[in-house]
Amino acid sequence: MYRSHTCGELSSKDIGETITLSGWVHRRRDHGGIIFIDLRDRYGLTQIVFDPEFDQKALDIADKVRPEYVLKVTGEVRKRLEGQDNPNMATGEIEVYINEIKILNDAKTPPFEIDQEKTINEELRLKYRYLDLRKDRMKNNIVLRHKVIKEIRDLMDNENFVEIETPILIKGTPEGSREYLVPSRLYPGKFYVLPQSPQQLKQLLMIAGYDRYFQIARCFRDEDQRGDRQPEFTQLDIEMSFVEEKDVMAVNEKLLIVLTKKFMPDKKIQKEPFPVLTWKEAMETYGSDKPDIRFEMKIVDVTDIVTGSGFSVFSNAVKEGGVVKALRVKGGGKFTRKEIDDLTELARIHGAKGLAYFLYEEDGSIRSPLTKFMSEEEIKGITEKTGAKPGDCVFFGADQFNTACEALGQVRLACGDKFNLRDPNVFAFLWVHEFPMFERDQATGGLGAMHHPFTRPMTEDIDLLETAPEKARSIAYDVVLNGNEIGGGSMRIHEQKLQQKIFDILKITPEDAEIRFGHMLEAFSYGAPPHGGIAWGLDRLIMIFAGEPNIREVIAFPKDSKAKDLTLGAPSVMPEKDVKEANVKIINA
Ligand code: AMO
Ligand code: AMP
Repeated sequence: MYRSHTCGELSSKDIGETITLSGWVHRRRDHGGIIFIDLRDRYGLTQIVFDPEFDQKALDIADKVRPEYVLKVTGEVRKRLEGQDNPNMATGEIEVYINEIKILNDAKTPPFEIDQEKTINEELRLKYRYLDLRKDRMKNNIVLRHKVIKEIRDLMDNENFVEIETPILIKGTPEGSREYLVPSRLYPGKFYVLPQSPQQLKQLLMIAGYDRYFQIARCFRDEDQRGDRQPEFTQLDIEMSFVEEKDVMAVNEKLLIVLTKKFMPDKKIQKEPFPVLTWKEAMETYGSDKPDIRFEMKIVDVTDIVTGSGFSVFSNAVKEGGVVKALRVKGGGKFTRKEIDDLTELARIHGAKGLAYFLYEEDGSIRSPLTKFMSEEEIKGITEKTGAKPGDCVFFGADQFNTACEALGQVRLACGDKFNLRDPNVFAFLWVHEFPMFERDQATGGLGAMHHPFTRPMTEDIDLLETAPEKARSIAYDVVLNGNEIGGGSMRIHEQKLQQKIFDILKITPEDAEIRFGHMLEAFSYGAPPHGGIAWGLDRLIMIFAGEPNIREVIAFPKDSKAKDLTLGAPSVMPEKDVKEANVKIINA
């Protein structure tokens, strides 16, 4: 027997018992001939004591022990001496006097200390992930992840959903990212593709009649990494038949509220039911399709006021079919030159050509390089429209709609941070819907699906598909939490003819459609029910629950920022024989 108890379990009620523990040496202290060790396992820490008066032989062995050695110890549970209790430790009232010790394994000195919460270079953490995972921070995140996923499974089961696994080796799916290819050994020149999501398969399951499906699904996308993106990530994937958008939203909203209340009881959900904004409202009000609505600071439109402005940046933008947007920042009148320059740079990074501004002095006068080009009436109109008061600042974005809004949206977030308006104790969920069906590809000029090509157009916009497809909106929706897109989905097209029309707009030729989606088109012809669904970025949700800055912190073995697995050392060179067998020719390694 290795243990009678775990290291997180013993308390005053066990005093006098003889017990056995196994675990790692977390910390070791020598106190004039007596050795104290904090022994650690997944469940916690227990202080064990080697006292020459209790057992000299055990003490002699303990003397050789170093951090991270693996021990098995047996001894007597005792109350700690008066005043020695440690209220920070679950087992802080007791200690165990040891008379039997076995070193189960020794350990090299770890590349970083396990018993301290210091900042450690991430490369080192990922290379030795199994050591990093020993630390409390990671352990708490991994256990939280497990608990959230278990709760999701129980809740989905209660709601009559069936979890169905779908294959990992599939044919490409049109989520819009670059795909990972797997060469086929048996069929030279042919490839499997790793799923970007189970999108096609869950739609086929609807056709098969499994009207409420879910899956904790692994997805693969060969795209550039960011803090909230991984090449391999996990979705809660959901699909439902005989439902409308509001039904999908309702199930998901309920689930998110239950999870938040259970796991984040101290957070305040800003608004229930969740607010619903159209994509256009979200963009023009917050400059983002995933707005952080924990704070107000809304963007307003001043296009009409400055249409004929003497400030040519504004009037030219309008002439070119653009808009002029304004953002009032309360208390921003005191921004320094450097702060304005930094915000201007931020706007530039997000596509703006500049960041014009008004600084309102306490006496009501305005400091700005533009006022000299503008009429009294324009200035007054802007002040009124934005509601600016002495001591405030107003920023402007003059550009095409998306660029003007997005750049100011980024400035808004930065100002929200500056004035501490993004309250960490608030969970602000919302839905964003009525997305455009298509977006224009900057490189080719052609239209691409904004969500994916199975997304259903809004019924009232179906006619626009013929006349002005770029104006058509879709029945697609995202769920957003504190400025993070945590999920996205849509109602699907279940009629072959409508699907064909979308392929036409996307310039997918019938031959191409047949090759890529022939199986789907055929399936749609065997009685596809109306259906729709959603997928959550589960890593992102858990990241927010855990209060972590990036999703790598909630994934046991994540890839690094360059898509490498540093723990195992992947990707790696393969033996020539294997490469040949996979029918692959290496061109430029
Ligand atoms: P979508 O592509 O919007 O939709 O993805 C759904 C959610 O998955 C998360 N996500 C990611 N998380 C981590 N790393 C990534 N690289 C990554 N990419 C996406 C986001 C996102 O909201 N099949 C559709 C869903 C549907 O229509 O039902 C889909 O995958 O949180
Ligand atoms: P310029 O005329 O380029 O010297 O710009 C004058 C001011 O307008 C500067 O504060 C610029 O940052 C700002 N600006 C220039 N272009 C734009 C634009 N498209 N939208 C908003 N502000 C701009």
